[in-house]
Amino acid sequence: MSESLAFKNRLGYRLGPFVFEHGLSLAPMAGNTNLAYRRMCRAFGAELTTTEMVSAMALRHGDDKTLNYLERDESPSPDAAQVFGANPAILAEAAQKIEQRGFDVVDLNIGCPVPKITGGGGGSALLQDPQQAAACIAAMCAAVDLPVTVKIRAGWDNAHKNAPEFARCMEQAGAQAITVHGRTREQKYSGRADLDLIQQVVEAVAIPVIGNGDVIDLESAKLMAATGVAGIAIGRGALGQPWIFGQLHAMFRGTSIPGAPGCAQRAALLLELGRGVCELYGEHRGMRIMRRLATDFFRGLRGAPAMRQESNGLASLADLEALATRIAVLEDSGRDPQDPDA
Ligand SMILES: Cc1cc2nc3c(=O)[nH]c(=O)nc-3n(C[C@H](O)[C@H](O)[C@H](O)COP(=O)(O)O)c2cc1C
Repeated sequence: MSESLAFKNRLGYRLGPFVFEHGLSLAPMAGNTNLAYRRMCRAFGAELTTTEMVSAMALRHGDDKTLNYLERDESPSPDAAQVFGANPAILAEAAQKIEQRGFDVVDLNIGCPVPKITGGGGGSALLQDPQQAAACIAAMCAAVDLPVTVKIRAGWDNAHKNAPEFARCMEQAGAQAITVHGRTREQKYSGRADLDLIQQVVEAVAIPVIGNGDVIDLESAKLMAATGVAGIAIGRGALGQPWIFGQLHAMFRGTSIPGAPGCAQRAALLLELGRGVCELYGEHRGMRIMRRLATDFFRGLRGAPAMRQESNGLASLADLEALATRIAVLEDSGRDPQDPDA
């Protein structure tokens, strides 16, 4: 990051009727950011949460599974729904459906690197076609009263890191905020997020820029804040540790930082999440989702490898209760040096 960048915290922004103190949001993650998890992150201080991406085309066809991903509750904190696609008219319709379902913000995905999505011209493929992306944003803005936002990557590949120019284009098309994941499409999740590039995006546009990538703790959040971003979106760093939002608020306010919860509280949170997920999707599908989500709650704790195996076999809430009981009685300082994730 450039020399001139001492720690300058410009966090906080307005989005439509919402005012965010530090702009701390939960990044959208397929398979993870269901309503139960979003609710839990909000309770710990996430100021904006986002559904996983849904297909604009599937919304047009009223696909049940897709509608399932757009569960919403009555919460005072804003909830965004994210769509992907590349056809302005279909995206405009999708934005209207999202507005009708009561969401507060609609976000366009211009970051997904998966060939199934980019092959259809959506996700990060739009980084290569700023005009088409602008047409998509403009059509969405014209279709709804909600704020329309966009989430992009640094660029398609190392030779085409066009995020600053691309962001300007999105701003001109009507986007009210832009989240930048500082990796290229080519990088997928390898390497590091490019914070210098995120700073360049901040300097290129007047709309709020939300920095994203590799924020997992207080130190990495400080580095992201030093780019001058208006907010920070946290993805993997919030999995299994939703309390990170409260810790970051305290750090940026300069108040005492709450410690991570002990094992008993983690177990209670895991169970709360499991119950919420089952309410949303039923026990059968819910437990399949929890097989993945559960592992984040005991990562690094003594006995984690055995518990990971146990969580792979979760079939009922009773199984989850048994697992939570075992986590609850672990030693709080029980980091396992044998566990590669510790
Ligand atoms: C399992 C997983 C699913 C993801 N799904 C989405 C998605 O649906 N929409 C999206 O814009 N980004 C998605 N992402 C990218 C994240 O939002 C985020 O940009 C990326 O993980 C980098 O941030 P992090 O280092 O804080 O995780 C996903 C990432 C992961 C790991």
